[in-house]
Amino acid sequence: MSLRTLDGVDVSGKRVVVRVDFNVPIQDGVIQDDTRIRAALPTLRRLLGRGASLVLVSHLGRPKGKVDPKYSLAPIAVRLGELLDAPIELANDVVGNDARAKAAALAAGEVLLLENVRFEPGEEKNDPELAVQLASLGDLYVNDAFGAAHRAHASTAAIASHLPAYAGDLMVAEVSALGALTSNPDRPFVDILGGAKVSDKIGVIEIRLSRVDVVMLGGGMANTFLLAQGKAVGDSLVEADFVETANRVMQQANERSVELLLPIDVIAAQGMDGQAATVDADGIPDDWAAFDIGPKSAASFAKVIAGAKTIFWNGPMGVFERPAFANGTLAIARAVAASGAFSVIGGGDSVSAIEQSGLADKISHISTGGGASLEFIEGRELPGISVLEAKS
Ligand code: 3PG
Repeated sequence: MSLRTLDGVDVSGKRVVVRVDFNVPIQDGVIQDDTRIRAALPTLRRLLGRGASLVLVSHLGRPKGKVDPKYSLAPIAVRLGELLDAPIELANDVVGNDARAKAAALAAGEVLLLENVRFEPGEEKNDPELAVQLASLGDLYVNDAFGAAHRAHASTAAIASHLPAYAGDLMVAEVSALGALTSNPDRPFVDILGGAKVSDKIGVIEIRLSRVDVVMLGGGMANTFLLAQGKAVGDSLVEADFVETANRVMQQANERSVELLLPIDVIAAQGMDGQAATVDADGIPDDWAAFDIGPKSAASFAKVIAGAKTIFWNGPMGVFERPAFANGTLAIARAVAASGAFSVIGGGDSVSAIEQSGLADKISHISTGGGASLEFIEGRELPGISVLEAKS
């Protein structure tokens, strides 16, 4: 896939509308993780360095088309100002009087951040009218919001019909790394998939069976597979409606000679605050629930990971935010880092795990996209990317 990049594009004296994904976790007004803001800096610096002024567009959370101060981008404007070491003007609307006046007043090198684009009801509807209004704020459009590329929204899709549209540096890096996973990857290729629910990832698991050699499953969703194998999972989170699907997936894996690995032991407790213990995955006591993979599973997963040449990892192996249930995920992080394989990690918790383990620099690519990276490797067309493709 070839994208229209910023190489050779003259942006001097131009106002550039840049779609970024500043959808970061915020608690009580405090940003918990600014990775996504930092990831956009190379594109922003490059444009500013070449004499552009910037109108930044982002969503935060899901305010459902209504203004909700809880989802204001104000804390993000402050953090971005610190990172860019420059004052950031925040508009108090998206395409209203304030945004228009502030955009018109921008001088070269200045940055305006619009308020949360999802305050506009037209954003998630990919409304052409909103797209025209957003486009009217600049001369060029750059999309660097890989994390939102799977959304066909006014600021990620429709806007590209109204301005010359280019991919930012982060978008280019994401597409190149994830593209390497989908075109002729070195083998063995191992997928590590975790997270709470099978229902969220069943599509990706099924599609991936035709592309990889090994699929490792951890986290809450592994329980439904264990149940499908007739194992006693106690009070663990399961999706009973997906037991049949899990059986089908295991059969497909078998037919395709793909190794589908499940935990052989787990860290379980009577409720998340209970005393945790390691138990075999086929004998979780009735009122106990699994909250992490156990040490034997982590060791056997690590052994397979050590032999991999390509790895994609999305989703934690357990309730990673609780220290008692973080060891499985951290063990996988260490194994991926030590593997020497071409490795791509996507999704909030797996990315936090690799960062917590201090091994992020050993990973080939850390994706800023959760859902977007999954849809990409499923081989789906991402609307925010297809509008940036160079026509041959
Ligand atoms: C994400 O966090 O995955 C992206 O910012 C997209 O957010 P959304 O799932 O609310 O569209």
